[in-house]
Amino acid sequence: MNQESKVALVTGAASGLGEAIAQRLAADGMVVVVADIDMANAGRVAKALTASSISLKLDVTQEQDWVEAIAAIEQQFGRLDVLVNNAGITTMGTVEDLTLEAFKHEFSIDVDGTFLGCKHGIGLMKKNGGAIINMSSAAGIKASSLLCAYNAAKGAVTMLTKSVALHCAEQKNGIRCNSVHPGAIHTAIIDKTLAQSDDPEALMETFVASHPVGHLGKPSDIASIVSYLASNESGFATGAQFVVDGGMTL
Ligand SMILES: NC(=O)c1ccc[n+]([C@@H]2O[C@H](COP(=O)([O-])OP(=O)(O)OC[C@H]3O[C@@H](n4cnc5c(N)ncnc54)[C@H](O)[C@@H]3O)[C@@H](O)[C@H]2O)c1
Repeated sequence: MNQESKVALVTGAASGLGEAIAQRLAADGMVVVVADIDMANAGRVAKALTASSISLKLDVTQEQDWVEAIAAIEQQFGRLDVLVNNAGITTMGTVEDLTLEAFKHEFSIDVDGTFLGCKHGIGLMKKNGGAIINMSSAAGIKASSLLCAYNAAKGAVTMLTKSVALHCAEQKNGIRCNSVHPGAIHTAIIDKTLAQSDDPEALMETFVASHPVGHLGKPSDIASIVSYLASNESGFATGAQFVVDGGMTL
């Protein structure tokens, strides 16, 4: 089907990568549902997209929010073609520093949120088939002592993606599911991570040095791979890891 007739739901779309992805999918001609807990910015983002794009309150950790969001999309648009499970946080800390509460909080957004998105999104998507894109990270492949919870959560997102991809292939429901693994991209999540550090300048230098290309990525670098995965051009790709990290994991 044409990109023009597709409906896409992007979580965490009020800022950063989600905002850039929402803008790119709208530029590709899709109707975009801008979902977030930050409704002021979600409204701002949706307003700047195509006329039929909307914002929607969706806390990805809450199953009832997912049930209501999918029902609202079905009622308004009758279909869901693309689901980008992008909402996420980064919790800094080693295995000895982290509290169980902080570890579970990281998992509730990055892992529970992605699981719930796939679980409830598939029900509507399987009417027409479609593409699920889960935001993992280079940190879902390469570990750091300081990113214990984040490494574990993004590793879980990577394997969850493969299991969902296999399920959909077995069901022959026409849904593909892939993960995207960005290196450091300069967004609010990086600023929040720097703010948790005792020496933000040194941490920034470490971020840059860990990318062989010598710089961080831009949100548009990630939006373009999501655009490809959302399109029919990537029709034979499923369960795969798309690494866009300036060489960080080499
Ligand atoms: N920026 C990077 O360097 C980088 C690198 C690798 C992976 N990622 C991943 O990309 C995704 C987006 O990161 P970003 O850099 O744009 O971060 P960001 O902090 O700029 O944006 C995250 C968005 O998620 C929203 N959000 C937080 N909790 C939520 C919840 N419970 N329900 C719904 N929305 C919620 C926030 O309100 C915010 O709008 C995350 O999954 C992140 O782990 C980012």
